[in-house]
Amino acid sequence: MLLPGFRPNMEMELFFERKMEMPLVGTKEMFAKAYDGGYAIGAFNVNNMEIIQGITEAAKELSAPLILQVSAGARKYANHTYLMKLVEAAVIETGLPICLHLDHGDSFDLCKSCVETGFSSVMIDGSHLPYEENIRLTRQVVDFCHKYDVTVEGELGVLAGVEDEVHSNVHVYTQPGEVQDFVGRTGVDSLAIAIGTSHGAYKFKPGTKPQIQLDILHEIEKRIPRFPIVLHGSSSVPPEIVKIINENGGKMDDAVGIPEEQLREAARSAVCKINIDSDGRLAMTAAIRKYFNEHPEEFDPRKYLSPARDALKALYMHKNKNVLGSAGKA
Ligand code: G3H
Ligand code: 13P
Ligand code: ZN
Repeated sequence: MLLPGFRPNMEMELFFERKMEMPLVGTKEMFAKAYDGGYAIGAFNVNNMEIIQGITEAAKELSAPLILQVSAGARKYANHTYLMKLVEAAVIETGLPICLHLDHGDSFDLCKSCVETGFSSVMIDGSHLPYEENIRLTRQVVDFCHKYDVTVEGELGVLAGVEDEVHSNVHVYTQPGEVQDFVGRTGVDSLAIAIGTSHGAYKFKPGTKPQIQLDILHEIEKRIPRFPIVLHGSSSVPPEIVKIINENGGKMDDAVGIPEEQLREAARSAVCKINIDSDGRLAMTAAIRKYFNEHPEEFDPRKYLSPARDALKALYMHKNKNVLGSAGKA
């Protein structure tokens, strides 16, 4: 409660308003525990109610800490207010420590607006900018966010694949020699690195051996000891799910992802956050395609969205338990 006669300035008003809104958590404590415990927190993208329910029910059942992340595309699709209210419902229903994070923020204004409307964490993705510009933008976001206890993820290195409108055909691996300078000058709370993961379902050419560059990760760990590292583009594109899609009218023959054992190994090291979105999309798509194929007469969305939500829950239970190692850590 504020003292009588005390008039907070606008910054303080926003700070108190944010604290009272809903009990979301930032990443600081989550990452410290994950680092010491040799596991990673799942950062799963959310776009609608069924996705939020599938992910949060899985986490609740396993008592796993959780980051729900929202991209600019998700806000465009679902509307910011709907997403906030759905996440609020998940916090109430699960009682879990949940972090609500902006995925791939591309400007100071977008990050600022997410802070003002209650996010507990943001990513500022300046990875496509020249190094000094990345530092300048990231520092600006950190200075703003830290006033409100909001944690910030920055990125160094470029992932191949598609991120909203940004498309890159080549990996530009993170240079270990730059990380200490970047982290020191920006003040970020975590760092996303490029070591061969990529966005989407087509990460490697069929027939080639998928391999992330764990030696670069270990070199980075040495340069910034105990600093939380983030891996984007970490879907594994499970062949059994792709098979169901293809058997039920889909056409995704060339889809290949990151082997789960490699992610498990990364989660044991400094990697504290692993981003997964495409695998969830595949699980939902497989369930819906199968349902439609087996029940061509059905048209009630609840009928085909229920198995889709169940499939998501099963997928994310598997990720928390067997890939991230986060089960029982909430
Ligand atoms: O990294 C990208 C995430 O998968 C979000 O994808 O921008 O299509 O929402 P989106
Ligand atoms: P995937 O496309 O591999 O699921 O990556 C998601 C991601 O990095 C979200 O930021
Ligand atoms: Zn990403």
